[in-house]
Amino acid sequence: MRRAIYPGSFDPVTYGHLDMIVRSAKIVDELIVAVLINSAKNPLFSIEERVSMLEEMTKDIPNVKIQSFEGLLIEYAREKEANLIIRGLRAVTDFEYELQIAQTNRIVNSQVDTLFLATSLEYAYLSSTIVREVASYGGDISHFVPGPLIERIYAKYKQ
Ligand code: PNS
Repeated sequence: MRRAIYPGSFDPVTYGHLDMIVRSAKIVDELIVAVLINSAKNPLFSIEERVSMLEEMTKDIPNVKIQSFEGLLIEYAREKEANLIIRGLRAVTDFEYELQIAQTNRIVNSQVDTLFLATSLEYAYLSSTIVREVASYGGDISHFVPGPLIERIYAKYKQ
């Protein structure tokens, strides 16, 4: 069985992430979407909120599981017996950093490969940072995230 991990911060999940999840789930038997618990980063959404938004948005894809993780991704992949990490590449600017991480991870554990998927063109500009920035000014985020998440994101800036 091919089990893969699609890791990220998902703060919040965007249409770009969801496109990657749908496409990745077709390639592997089981996809673990792994949400990083990063206490240093001070995220907009708590880990529980990020996990639950992802669960809601992927509930119709049977081979997708949402989990959280802390520490090194490559260690987490070993624990979960996953031999594939999936990352999206939006542009050449992503490539240098992602290549460095993928190569580092392969040095640590050569049993785990990183598979890069080209982000769909319509989401090539999109990131959680952009969503947070636009939402913080009350701008329209309906092109970036699914409808049910919109009010939850605005609410963070009204608190
Ligand atoms: O959505 P993001 O913020 O681009 O995701 C980054 C993520 C979570 C994939 C990356 O920060 C990560 O794997 N962090 C865990 C620590 C780790 O393994 N770092 C890479 C080796 S130095």
